[in-house]
Amino acid sequence: MESLVAILYLIAVFAFAYGIRMMRHPKTAKNGNFISLVGMILGLIGAMIQPLDNGDNNYIWIIGAMIVGGAIGLPLAQKVKMTAMPQLVAMFNGLGGASATTIGVVELININNQTPVGAKVVSILALIIGAISFTGSVLAYLKLEGKLRKQWVVPGHNFWNLVIILVMIALGAMISSANSGIGWPLYVMILLALFYGIFFVFPIGGADMPVVISLLNSLTGLSAAAAGGIYGNKAMLIGGILVGASGTILTILMCQAMNRSLWNVILAGKFQAGGGAGSDEDQVMKEITKPDAAILMQYSKNVLVIPGYGLAVSQAQKIVKELDDLLATTGVDVRYAIHPVAGRMPGHMNVLLAEADVPYEKLLDLDDANAALKDTDVVLVIGANDVVNPSANDDPGSPIYGMPILNALDAKHIIVMKRGRGTGYSGIENPLFFHEKTRLYFGDAKASLNEIIAELKENL
Ligand code: TAP
Repeated sequence: MESLVAILYLIAVFAFAYGIRMMRHPKTAKNGNFISLVGMILGLIGAMIQPLDNGDNNYIWIIGAMIVGGAIGLPLAQKVKMTAMPQLVAMFNGLGGASATTIGVVELININNQTPVGAKVVSILALIIGAISFTGSVLAYLKLEGKLRKQWVVPGHNFWNLVIILVMIALGAMISSANSGIGWPLYVMILLALFYGIFFVFPIGGADMPVVISLLNSLTGLSAAAAGGIYGNKAMLIGGILVGASGTILTILMCQAMNRSLWNVILAGKFQAGGGAGSDEDQVMKEITKPDAAILMQYSKNVLVIPGYGLAVSQAQKIVKELDDLLATTGVDVRYAIHPVAGRMPGHMNVLLAEADVPYEKLLDLDDANAALKDTDVVLVIGANDVVNPSANDDPGSPIYGMPILNALDAKHIIVMKRGRGTGYSGIENPLFFHEKTRLYFGDAKASLNEIIAELKENL
């Protein structure tokens, strides 16, 4: 039986690694996801048949929990709107952390004078990292859902940050050197770790949330790896390490995309919503009419589309592709500028555009898009705001100052599609919308694009 379990784990681990590798390209990503899923099922089968020391596999409890979890998770995942996906991911992430915490608590309650120190330390790590990830992810969920806009920064935040970490280390040392896990150090450590997740995520807001989400994701991976270590489950250990490592790489990439150091995001908590340049209510946004917008695009050499969160909200990806196809018949070259944090989850715009069969070669990353913008006739901003906010370049007082943006102002003409005067996720005004080059086309993105398409069809 043990060798069968080892083989299942080996195949599972290979499937995880190969599946992740296939996710590097949109064409292979779907199959990669499927291969990873097969790996996960094999890992589960391995865990179910793995002989345990006490010989008690508790199948009734395991299957019961799987049915309850599946009954809650399946309809949630089926019903979720594409725009609410990041919230769902944050919640699932948090539940992974909660599971690791529970495993850590159960193991620590059962320690005795035979338990090796290494095993105690791994259980403590699973508990602490999992609990931080749990409460941090719940808070991230509330922030993404727009239910919590506040940022709470206590005076001396960094100092208290350090104090909490040091107290948790001291409590961990007490538990590791004790012969029984049950006692006040364990209870205080659980409460402190849960509190720390809130304390750590609360001050972070606005445009910095992508970094937090990927960091929490990597923490959950590490806590799962620790849990895998506790049970000698190699598939769980390696799977957790893969999540931890890829989450860490993503965190670094997100930091680079925001031009922030990780310490600046975590410790400073300096982002404050609101304010920024151009918040004067009297400033005028100049509108463009439907015929003018259609003619401007029809007679241009090239159009660069900048999609943002609003495109996802209105589910306008397929209509953009229709506009793209129509413009192509008149010889207009249409491409797409993708900002790494556009939307609400990493790769959000890539996923949407792939869904609409927009060829991957038409998508330009930040640097290529900024180079192309200098030679662009019309830039069409669809439901994007923060990622094209020029305050990031020229307003040192702006909370997003220093974040690389798509320099829409470099193009000859700018058309912005949005519903009204709503701000972006960071809650700050965008001077681009008041610029003399910019024309606003108000309305839901999908409806607006349909109007332009109808107008173009009349012209053709
Ligand atoms: P945002 O700055 O959030 O702006 C979205 C814009 O879309 C708003 O100005 C809104 O204006 C407009 N809009 C909303 N619904 C619309 C609809 N149905 N039709 C047309 N327009 C609509 O988007 P962005 O530029 O993509 O920037 C993303 C922001 O989210 C960044 O600050 C980023 O840091 C943050 N964030 C990103 C992630 C990841 S990983 N991508 C995760 C968390 C947070 P109206 O209300 O006036 O229509």
